[in-house]
Amino acid sequence: MIGAIPGDIGPCTDQDIPGIIDLWQKTGLTRPWNDPARDISFARGSSNSDVLACRTNEAVCATVMVGHDGHRGVVYYLAVDPDYQGKGLGRRMMAAAEAWLKHKGAWKLNLMIRVDNNSVQAFYEQIGYQTEERIVMSRRLDDGDNA
Ligand SMILES: CC(C)(COP(=O)(O)OP(=O)(O)OC[C@H]1O[C@@H](n2cnc3c(N)ncnc32)[C@H](O)[C@@H]1OP(=O)(O)O)[C@@H](O)C(=O)NCCC(=O)NCCS
Repeated sequence: MIGAIPGDIGPCTDQDIPGIIDLWQKTGLTRPWNDPARDISFARGSSNSDVLACRTNEAVCATVMVGHDGHRGVVYYLAVDPDYQGKGLGRRMMAAAEAWLKHKGAWKLNLMIRVDNNSVQAFYEQIGYQTEERIVMSRRLDDGDNA
């Protein structure tokens, strides 16, 4: 049974966290080397980042993690519950992330797509994003796997 039409988008609450993790698992965004609870806590612990959520009466139905590093804005964990996909909610979540970043003074947003997430590139293009020729490099600063 699908709940009410999703409404306002805003910072998530402590009560939302189990539902957010469920949603990320359901939409294939979690990885064994990323602890989602730790990721949420870290994002919510700074004025430069947050996790935005949209709720139905029953549960979180969409999320986006948003933040900036003092130069560029970035989003992670954009997720829309499969029951609500294809209704414009992904577009609304990205608009909310963009508004959050503009309010913080950021003027450009970068995002990464995993190479095995084939279909999502077309979604971002549809809402106005372009592909840039960049190589993303990383190194872990803890003793975890370099993934
Ligand atoms: C990607 C995702 C957030 C899109 O959410 P959504 O609510 O279904 O998207 P919307 O309904 O807002 O779609 C906005 C536009 O993009 C288009 N679109 C959405 N998904 C698309 C796809 N896979 N391919 C092509 N176009 C797509 C829609 O048709 C719509 O176009 P329109 O406005 O011209 O009608 C959702 O599919 C999802 O949660 N996927 C799994 C998690 C994921 O991969 N997240 C991104 C990690 S980088």
